[in-house]
Amino acid sequence: MRLVPWLPDDLLRRLDDVVTVYGEAMNYRAELLEVRRGYIATHVRRPGFRAVATLTAEGALAGFGYGYRSAAGQWWHDQVRGALPKSARSTWLTDCFEVVELHVHPQAQGHGLGAHQLRTLLGMAAGATTLLSTPEADEQRSRAWRLYRRFGYVDVLRNFHFPGDERAFAVLGRTLPLPHPQAAPAAGAGPSTDPAPQRS
Ligand SMILES: CC(C)(COP(=O)(O)OP(=O)(O)OC[C@H]1O[C@@H](n2cnc3c(N)ncnc32)[C@H](O)[C@@H]1OP(=O)(O)O)[C@@H](O)C(=O)NCCC(=O)NCCS
Repeated sequence: MRLVPWLPDDLLRRLDDVVTVYGEAMNYRAELLEVRRGYIATHVRRPGFRAVATLTAEGALAGFGYGYRSAAGQWWHDQVRGALPKSARSTWLTDCFEVVELHVHPQAQGHGLGAHQLRTLLGMAAGATTLLSTPEADEQRSRAWRLYRRFGYVDVLRNFHFPGDERAFAVLGRTLPLPHPQAAPAAGAGPSTDPAPQRS
């Protein structure tokens, strides 16, 4: 496996594969995936766009992640902004890199690829903070939750409902930049604490 940074056109060239990995990882139906495909194609043009991909030796896509600068007028940003108290808006949204998607094909999950993708993506990102949303789940049993907690993501919103989605989501955040992997562990990584991840 090798991890590579992707430019916007790299992702667009592999959009079919991206949507396939996304659908398999999230177990989404085909109709929903078509809608998401359209969104992804527009996301690559947003300011601050950064992306990574994990490729097998044969060049198959095993995983990917991307994000961009979170800004007013973007649907996700505006939903989160509307749900946050004023001080938290300023803390989290003023200079924020949103991790929009992070997925590993089910057959490749659980081998550290997600962690490698996230670390590399955040290392390439600009911004003072990073936010993401993930479905509410058992923190100990969910790979996504374990991953985000390990990276020091703290609760920003819990049990939040985005319009049109019946699932409850958490919005999680941490400061940027990530510390060097060998840095000493810290207890947390909210804006007022040391930004070291809990483990590296
Ligand atoms: C979330 C995801 C990107 C993580 O990638 P991954 O390569 O599977 O994750 P890693 O191997 O780096 O491990 C992540 C954590 O899951 C843990 N894990 C591994 N196998 C597990 C299992 N069977 N059950 C629960 N946790 C497991 C790892 O130990 C690690 O936690 P730790 O740091 O506490 O040890 C990937 O699993 C995925 O695409 N899941 C489905 C889609 C999804 O949830 N995406 C995120 C939506 S916001």
